[in-house]
Amino acid sequence: MMHSHIVGIGGYLPERIMTNHDLEKIVDTSDSWIRERTGISRRHIIGREQATSDMAAAAARQALADAGLTINDIDALIVATTTPDMIFPSTATIVQSKLDGKDFPAWDIQAVCSGFVYGLAHADCMIRAGMFRRVLLIGSEAMSRIVDWTDRTTCVLFGDGAGAVVLEGREQEGGVVGSVLHADGAYRDLLKAEHAHGHASPDSFHREGIDFATDAAGIAAVEMKGNEVFRVAVTKLGEVVNEILQRYELEDKDIDWLIPHQANIRIIQATARKLGMDMQRVAQTVKDHGNTSSASVPLALNELYRSGQLQPGQTILLEAFAGGFAWGANLIKWTKQGFSNGT
Ligand code: COA
Repeated sequence: MMHSHIVGIGGYLPERIMTNHDLEKIVDTSDSWIRERTGISRRHIIGREQATSDMAAAAARQALADAGLTINDIDALIVATTTPDMIFPSTATIVQSKLDGKDFPAWDIQAVCSGFVYGLAHADCMIRAGMFRRVLLIGSEAMSRIVDWTDRTTCVLFGDGAGAVVLEGREQEGGVVGSVLHADGAYRDLLKAEHAHGHASPDSFHREGIDFATDAAGIAAVEMKGNEVFRVAVTKLGEVVNEILQRYELEDKDIDWLIPHQANIRIIQATARKLGMDMQRVAQTVKDHGNTSSASVPLALNELYRSGQLQPGQTILLEAFAGGFAWGANLIKWTKQGFSNGT
């Protein structure tokens, strides 16, 4: 029987950093409010000339180098994104072309901040079924292009970036143990970007001397009822981590690392408490990345991996919650040794 193993990991964060103090200049907020309510201190913002596909390609190059593979060793490419370069073609086909990939299927999936967790479940099922041997899975987001930079209740939360993994089917035990996915569209109005569209060619937006590459400014932007999202997220994430442990007959104490979606440190702490986990065993990047939507879980995984703390034989739990609402979790028995930056 085939098992899906992660054999390469990569990440990309744009150069430009926006701190909470930078945000104080454009909306009525404070560094202390943002840190206390969210745990965020800074976030990266995509460059004016960059698109979601550029960040995705950069993360993919690092993941391929780490796996010791080239793009044409890949059998399928999936990009999870909420901020595609354009409505079509898919960002995945644009990434394929930027990486000089040929003749393998490429497509996007959209489950907002749960995109990577959903994508991992898809890729794992297709590898187990024998449809593909190697899948390149990327989460990439230019959230700064769909937030309303005049709305302090949302613009302080998000950031940009990309994370990628290469999955490979092997008969060896371990790798992805399984996944649990959920959605409930009855909540769809609590978190949405009703009029947003493709974002490869942003208009400019200038405010208080800060130059944004965005078309948002309140028109095609994220709208959120933060309090209600928070409440449901804590409940559903608590339920889904219990469910996945039960399904695969594991206990809280069997989990070595929790790699949660990085939306808010208080949501992360609530899930860790539910699992009785020390925060030392929880990947935490929200402070420096903000919420990078579908990129958040693979970026957190990449940081933990490159810190040298992930060891073969450890069990890791990934989880995410998103607009829709769509949420889910994946369990992985880690098998990869060390990392390589390749060339
Ligand atoms: N700076 C300063 N004050 C702010 C602010 C900001 N950036 N944003 C909101 N406020 C104000 C509100 O206007 C409100 O003021 P009032 O009491 O005078 O009305 C006060 O702070 C409290 O707002 P509230 O919305 O109750 O704060 P909160 O503790 O719920 O925190 C969030 C707000 C958005 C941080 C929190 O609800 C959250 O993280 N929600 C989930 C978001 C999320 O994870 N979304 C993505 C899911 S994938």
